[in-house]
Amino acid sequence: MRHLVSIRDLSKDSALNLLSVAQDMSQVNDRSIKKLPTLRGRTVVNLFFENSTRTRISFEIAAKRLSADVINVAADSSSISKGESLKDTAQTLEALGADCIVLRHPSSGAAHQLATMGWISSSVVNAGDGTHEHPTQALLDALTMQQAFGVDLSNLRVLIVGDIKHSRVARSNALLLTLLGAKVELSGPASLLPPELTALGVELSNDFDQSLANGPNVVMMLRVQKERMLENFQKSESDYIKQWSLSSARLSSVSKDAIIMHPGPINRGLEISSQAAEDPRSRILQQVTNGLAVRMAVLYQVLSEEK
Ligand code: CP
Repeated sequence: MRHLVSIRDLSKDSALNLLSVAQDMSQVNDRSIKKLPTLRGRTVVNLFFENSTRTRISFEIAAKRLSADVINVAADSSSISKGESLKDTAQTLEALGADCIVLRHPSSGAAHQLATMGWISSSVVNAGDGTHEHPTQALLDALTMQQAFGVDLSNLRVLIVGDIKHSRVARSNALLLTLLGAKVELSGPASLLPPELTALGVELSNDFDQSLANGPNVVMMLRVQKERMLENFQKSESDYIKQWSLSSARLSSVSKDAIIMHPGPINRGLEISSQAAEDPRSRILQQVTNGLAVRMAVLYQVLSEEK
């Protein structure tokens, strides 16, 4: 695994192996001395063209825990703001010694382009590209499910709810969870639920209450991505809350043994109520913690292979 651009880069065995390494890394993170010498002398560059809290910071801590040097580049404080292209930026970073570029970009396909165009020989890890994929998010979500239900996810029923259309998280989760044998249902308003997603091997639904009544093991709520919507979403916000929010009233319909997930950042009161986000069944903060272990595992595998 020289790059991680898409969940499609993984076989079932390689995904399970990556999750197993991540579980080992989470044990390292529980020790009093959390550092491993594994990537000493290697340089990881976080190149972010979009804002991020969880992904950028966890990649930074992950690289530091593995003793790599890490540099953070934000588009608006670099020469990208003067019009420098992705190719020139990446070649400049490689000339400065980058062994791995972790890329977040608003364009779907940007990470694939960087990994395959022959511009650089550094490894590329996709930290979210447009509405396409967010593979490390899906891996940390799967690790969270394994910790709740066991390593074998093949009997799991996962309901992913909300703004499916703009969600790279939903796409990567659908690919990974179906690869691991879980049953995935995507539920959302028709305008935010592209019918072609059935090609991913998932069920589609337009009725959140009916989907909840079916008793899924995992209820994953998605952020409403107002910044990617061209239409004025504000007008339909109250309708959205009525039909699609995991509101305090709807919380009683979630099975007592189920877990509640959300990739963050959350819009409290829109797709999820504070009460649901802070319910004992919520794993939202555990997802964040697992992001660190998964990103350690990914950097370790990508840079070990590259070496
Ligand atoms: N879930 C996620 O990608 O969060 P950030 O945008 O804060 O990185």
